[in-house]
Amino acid sequence: MAIERTLSIIKPDATKRNLTGKINAKFEDAGLRIVAQKRIQLTPAQAGKFYEVHAERPFYGELCEFMASGPVVVQVLEGEGAIAKNREVMGATNPADAAPGTVRAEFAESVGENSVHGSDAPETAAVEIAYFFSGLELVG
Ligand code: CDP
Ligand code: MG
Repeated sequence: MAIERTLSIIKPDATKRNLTGKINAKFEDAGLRIVAQKRIQLTPAQAGKFYEVHAERPFYGELCEFMASGPVVVQVLEGEGAIAKNREVMGATNPADAAPGTVRAEFAESVGENSVHGSDAPETAAVEIAYFFSGLELVG
């Protein structure tokens, strides 16, 4: 499997509860390397642009508001098959369905406030990484 990079976001419900380190430990324990990372606060418009693929979904407004409700940690994770591996470490979108030991099983509060985002394919990973980071900020 190829070395990939994926965009990860530690969401406001998790930064608020001081879980950044515990979540990063799960990524690193799984062999993912954090090659870029910054803590920022999104505006609702910036969150809306990031999630525009979901613009027609009923939860879109709430999702944008939530993502702008507190600091997020945006990061680039690198490793063998990083996109799928990160999705595995994250667990299912709804924490009620997330496998034991995953970030969402342990930390997520609800299907909306579910602690982490991770890219779902190589194309979306490239677009999402470029949304937050310049090439100079990625140090493998
Ligand atoms: O984040 P993931 O890729 O697992 O799920 P998604 O289907 O791409 O949805 C993006 C985000 O929208 C989720 O992580 C949730 O925060 C939110 N969402 C929600 O609030 N209610 C749903 N029924 C589905 C998703
Ligand atoms: Mg998704």
